[in-house]
Amino acid sequence: MNTTITVNADQSTGTISRHIYGHFAEHLGRCIYEGIWVGEDSPIPNTRGIRNDVLEALRNLSIPVLRWPGGCFADEYHWKDGIGPREQRKRMVNTHWGGVVENNHFGTHEFLDLCELLGTEPYICGNVGSGTVQEMQEWVEYMTFDGESPMADWRKANGREKPWKLKYFGVGNENWGCGGNMRPAYYADEYRRFQTYVRNYGENRVYKIAGGANSDDYNWTETLMREAGGYMDGLSLHNYTVPGGFEVKRPATGFDEAEWFETMQLALRMDELITRHKAIMDQHDPKKRVGLIVDEWGTWFQVEPGTNPGFLYQQNSLRDALVAGLHFHVFHRHCDRVHMANIAQTVNVLQAMILTEGAEMLLTPTYHVFEMFKVHQDAEALSLHLDTGDYTLGDESIPQISASASKRADGTLDISLCNLDPNREAAVSLQLRGLAGIPEVSGRVLTHNDMNAHNTFSQPETVKPQAFEGVRSVSADGLSAVLPPASVVVLTLLS
Ligand code: AHR
Repeated sequence: MNTTITVNADQSTGTISRHIYGHFAEHLGRCIYEGIWVGEDSPIPNTRGIRNDVLEALRNLSIPVLRWPGGCFADEYHWKDGIGPREQRKRMVNTHWGGVVENNHFGTHEFLDLCELLGTEPYICGNVGSGTVQEMQEWVEYMTFDGESPMADWRKANGREKPWKLKYFGVGNENWGCGGNMRPAYYADEYRRFQTYVRNYGENRVYKIAGGANSDDYNWTETLMREAGGYMDGLSLHNYTVPGGFEVKRPATGFDEAEWFETMQLALRMDELITRHKAIMDQHDPKKRVGLIVDEWGTWFQVEPGTNPGFLYQQNSLRDALVAGLHFHVFHRHCDRVHMANIAQTVNVLQAMILTEGAEMLLTPTYHVFEMFKVHQDAEALSLHLDTGDYTLGDESIPQISASASKRADGTLDISLCNLDPNREAAVSLQLRGLAGIPEVSGRVLTHNDMNAHNTFSQPETVKPQAFEGVRSVSADGLSAVLPPASVVVLTLLS
């Protein structure tokens, strides 16, 4: 069956917050240390300790927001250990992730410097599980108070005269698990107490994010919205794509079609999760004041053979690229409520953008999807009707095509398409309503004839975007195109 997509170019369904293209970097394995921070004395070229190659690659993604320092690490992190002269900083054990020494060389100043170098907004996650209200209050005061106070004076003594601007602040992480094993009503009360002291200093306005549910724990969302909804700006949600489940986990490469199919099915489940969490939020907050913050998502596979199991280092293939594209389409569809999403994680951990090995660096297929899709950031999502056939394996089926369309401020249209079937190309007829004249069409495609294709340090460009040659005809009413099997395509229409 051919796929027909109807796009109403003059009907917006909402703005796609650029924060949906957010990232997450935790003190986990080689994400911060080695992946981002190498120190000022490193032979790897760096800017104030941050490696230049990674910096440049990340700048090219126009990262809107970066979450730090965790994750599970956040509820064990005591920020005062990470300020002042580096050689005097406390060395601690990263108990959650590999039991390695954390020397605290990358702390508040280094993180906020990274954000300034990237031109990205910081999203800091505070410690509820093992921290105190005072510690959290003082952290916000240290970063944002412009005046005379013990914390502001300390910041100045550490070399930063002016406060930073900090909007996004998370009050704990996964407090149903590694963040304290709390029950929802208990956490709701803890959230209410902790957030009271997360102050707005001067003109800085903090957007407070409550720790949210694990996947389909709808009771968590219900309780938080009922008991604490009035005290939050955002509520988080975590869901990973884990073929085989957490007990088993499957390898990141060397998979068969059954694992490919299962991965696509699991990625598509994000739509159901958001729909159901949204329905609960809508009951308590019909005006949609509270944003849904999907601040951890992505694939979770077995670690690469021979690597520390606590470091969560995995390869990234064309399959991950499709997973990313599918997630973005879901987030676009729910842009009325989804204000932010943060993929886990930026470098060397889980579904990473970048892998490093010593001085070497490579860009993953997921990186390329973030780069291709950045045109959707802050664009108007367009109403779209999709009529597609199935991709079937055995007795299970999923839609073959996923699509999303948006309009930039200057009127340019961007239409992204995913063909989930690794064996069949897809003939697509795109009908455009509300366009004046015949558009000029260009496109890029990310694909490969091997669904296991991935980039390695010896062959870093196996999977990379190419010019899309599949457009067959263009008229004032639309266009027709053929998508290769297992592909992500972005079409740009100028009229
Ligand atoms: O991203 C890895 C871990 O997954 C995070 O630390 C935690 O929040 C989640 O369970």
